[in-house]
Amino acid sequence: MAKTKTAFFCQNCGTQYAKWVGQCSACKEWNTVVEEVIQKEEKTSWKANTTTVSKIAKPLRVNEISTDKELRLNTFDLEFNRVLGGGLVPGALVLLGGEPGVGKSTLLLQIALKLPYRTLYVSGEESQKQIKMRADRILPNSETCFILTETKTQNIFRQIEATEPDIVVIDSIQTLHSDYIESAAGSISQVRECTAELIKFAKETNTPVILIGHITKDGSIAGPKILEHMVDTVLQFEGDRNYVYRILRALKNRFGSTAELGIYEMQGGGLRQVNNPSEILISKNDEGLSGTAIASTVEGMRPLMIEIQALVSTAVYGTPQRSTTGYNAKRLNMLLAVLEKRAGFKLGAKDVFLNITGGISVDDPAIDLAVIAAILSSNEDIPIEKGVCFAAEVGLAGEIRPVQRVDQRISEAEKLGFTSIYVSKNNKITLKNTKIEIHLVSEIEDMVSALFG
Ligand code: TYD
Ligand code: MG
Repeated sequence: MAKTKTAFFCQNCGTQYAKWVGQCSACKEWNTVVEEVIQKEEKTSWKANTTTVSKIAKPLRVNEISTDKELRLNTFDLEFNRVLGGGLVPGALVLLGGEPGVGKSTLLLQIALKLPYRTLYVSGEESQKQIKMRADRILPNSETCFILTETKTQNIFRQIEATEPDIVVIDSIQTLHSDYIESAAGSISQVRECTAELIKFAKETNTPVILIGHITKDGSIAGPKILEHMVDTVLQFEGDRNYVYRILRALKNRFGSTAELGIYEMQGGGLRQVNNPSEILISKNDEGLSGTAIASTVEGMRPLMIEIQALVSTAVYGTPQRSTTGYNAKRLNMLLAVLEKRAGFKLGAKDVFLNITGGISVDDPAIDLAVIAAILSSNEDIPIEKGVCFAAEVGLAGEIRPVQRVDQRISEAEKLGFTSIYVSKNNKITLKNTKIEIHLVSEIEDMVSALFG
């Protein structure tokens, strides 16, 4: 019998130790190091019953390498294609992470159902019946999508050989286990081994594999950060469960830009692609309400118009409250301090609540000016005129600073029917023939006198 080998792994960051330690020296977490069995057996290839025929790769000149095979597979989902950089690359391993219930399984099942290629959807979490029930809500009749409930990689590969799918989806990597490793499913060494086997399969057969990965409380993809290094693309699906909007972004992409963004809306029959997000993020009330301002922001490469609501009221308790949804609370405090010190607004004894509507969170500094406008509008109880929007950062000296991609922001505002936009005087605008009125401001006072007279 082969001698069992063990090693110690930090369950938080995946660092390997030769012996047990109380604190992981890499991530400084206490009590996360656990012994795992790593049985070093002679490994066969991913194919279950053939022994490895090792093909030896030869180096090729760059210009000799043919690229005609690198065509991308269209996923028939505009948002998903865009985030991937134009479709799935054959042989690529894509990891989709997200909090429980955000809709990862729904998204991939939906894509699998709509694809005209043979797809194999392997689930270790739900039974075939449960998946069928879900599929019925999305798209009842699909002839090319196969569902398999299995958690052992060797069995999965056997089924893959029988089905010969063009795309494989694994839901989720944490439920898989391989015979070559003895530790429990979801442990670092299992996850690493199963991913390695899948990578080998993907690269040898040129089949793209999409993995679902769970996310830990701190937002990283479950414990093993190593997974992120192994795969070609890491996508993150995020959004507040209480709202219907979901954002898909690429954290890493070997075959495309990470600046792209996909937006979906969760509906009764699955996820709907949202091609013009600005329209849904702005509420359509005609009467002017004080305390709301529209910012022109850029998320990834996409311009987005978002609505910011502020409520300023006299503090009932001694310490005024500051609370934000979708915006950095420290940044709000900074802007309030700037308003107090540089523009003379006494907000020190007021409660300030700030909310970005639609349940999305934004960290683009270009929304600063809209935040200030919303706060002042609520404080003065004067609504901001319809058709006005903002795109500028505010500095500590109360100066209004330029932002990147100002032209794109202005065009988006114009496209959506805004009539005027406030930007920094120092922004270089190269746009011509714009109908939207561009107000150039350099200090908060300029904006205050223009808006509230
Ligand atoms: P799910 O894909 O199971 O999330 P994950 O795999 O990321 O854990 O989706 C969970 C939520 O999506 C669930 O709470 C119900 C909702 N949902 C809809 O609103 N409409 C639908 O058509 C489907 C399939 C799910
Ligand atoms: Mg799921």
